[in-house]
Amino acid sequence: KGLEKFEVKSYEQLSHIAATFIIEQIRMKPDSVLGLATGSTPVGLYQKLIASHQKCEISFRETTTFNLDEYVGLHSSHPQSYNRFMHDHLFSRIDINNDQIHIPNGETRNLQSECFRYEKAIKNQGPIDIQVLGLGVNGHIGFNEPGTSFQTRTHVVDLAESTREANARFFASKEAVPKQAITVGIDTIMDSHKIILLAFGEQKQAAIERLNNGEVSEDFPASILKEHPNVTLIYG
Ligand code: GLP
Repeated sequence: KGLEKFEVKSYEQLSHIAATFIIEQIRMKPDSVLGLATGSTPVGLYQKLIASHQKCEISFRETTTFNLDEYVGLHSSHPQSYNRFMHDHLFSRIDINNDQIHIPNGETRNLQSECFRYEKAIKNQGPIDIQVLGLGVNGHIGFNEPGTSFQTRTHVVDLAESTREANARFFASKEAVPKQAITVGIDTIMDSHKIILLAFGEQKQAAIERLNNGEVSEDFPASILKEHPNVTLIYG
């Protein structure tokens, strides 16, 4: 237990180290189950994976992927949907088929049954070998906002105002940011064999500090990761 830590000097270095973990994982086990994240932080990692694939160093042919979360109510082709994000930043540029890719469906009428379906798919095809995580400014992981029980599985969440503000930069206005999302739960994340947590930049410093020095508390979701046996924090 406890976090393994890499403090980096640049975003380039963060992306490089993160990519090394994923590339090693796929080389060791070509049919790995990968847990993937959205947000701006993993974009550099995805670029490295695309480059590695283009050099024929790795193949995603046998991998399975599960994304952490999706907004409720955006069409999958909406420019800000996480489905579209993943296709634009990774999936359309590697050798992976749609049937290997899993992202919660935020457009369905029955969100509750979608949560069950998604959780069951992870259970059947998992466990996740390596999970990529970003860190919200308020310590959220996936879309598990402060106050979320550590025992949660995939569920529907009301997004915190601070999260909607932080993500407003991608939308026309804050009002355009969806109010809800589907996210895998904290317990779902904790079932992963290995986790890499990525955090970079000025606006993440307070969260990194609290993660490194604060207590394990549901007020700060990422803190539970200190109880996981195999987490690497890559930060700067
Ligand atoms: C978003 C996502 C998270 C992500 C976080 C940080 O709201 N739901 O999965 O890790 O916020 O995003 P960014 O990397 O853009 O700072």
